[in-house]
Amino acid sequence: MCPPEHFDVQYAINVWMDPARPVDRDLAYRQWRDLRDVYERLGHRVRVLDPLPGLPDMVFAANGSFVVGDHALGARFRELVREPEAPAHRSWLENAGVTVHAPTAVNEGEGDFAWAGTRILAGAGFRSDPAAHADLEATFGVPVVPLELVDPRFYHLDTALAVLDATTIAYYPPAFAPHSRELLAEMYPDAVVATEQDALVLGLNAVSDGRHVVLAEQARDLAGAVAAVGFEPVPVDVSELLKAGGGVKCATLELHRPAPAIIPASTTDEEHP
Ligand code: ARG
Repeated sequence: MCPPEHFDVQYAINVWMDPARPVDRDLAYRQWRDLRDVYERLGHRVRVLDPLPGLPDMVFAANGSFVVGDHALGARFRELVREPEAPAHRSWLENAGVTVHAPTAVNEGEGDFAWAGTRILAGAGFRSDPAAHADLEATFGVPVVPLELVDPRFYHLDTALAVLDATTIAYYPPAFAPHSRELLAEMYPDAVVATEQDALVLGLNAVSDGRHVVLAEQARDLAGAVAAVGFEPVPVDVSELLKAGGGVKCATLELHRPAPAIIPASTTDEEHP
């Protein structure tokens, strides 16, 4: 995670952002700290990336890379205003012993790519280039499922879909092109389907450790729906980050545990998130 020390809405690179609307940075910081505390209370170790001045979106750590086990695909931001975040993530990860593979195509890390236990769900349409899917395959050697996003309010995959565990997802179908909706319905017949209200508070921008699902407290139906399928919803308020089009997951780069089949022995105690 990266503290929102320089958080602001100074430009508009998604439809949520309005530079004319003031941001309360102290409130953003308190909400961020509460989110970090929630992870720690749930038993996760949180590591912090130093925020850099002039990078108001750096709090959205999820976009800086996509990590599985000891390997990561580095980000290459679509928007030049965020590009300087990529090298900061790369050095942090390399210092932490992760091998960072250089991207050939535009990709915004865990914003568009989700580790689903044995495969990678990969969004495209607004930010990451579909050509990045080949980078994922080359880096991780697992199947990549391409998903096309069609609604600008849900411009990153993590605004429209959350992986809850290796066999369960929650998503908002209208955010996807018809062929992607069919694919998701086929792969995840028992998925939690979010309401428009849940989606519009970025409730799907959630982080699951397979048991707890940390999500925006405004997504009440979604909390009930994930509880109904056996997860424990953990509501948090990240309303200030929503002004930049971000939420819980955007603020969290997960250092994932690979699925047993592809775990190299050295990474079995990799920590979450
Ligand atoms: N303002 C940021 C952007 O538009 C928000 C990023 C949200 N991150 C995410 N993983 N969805 O780039």
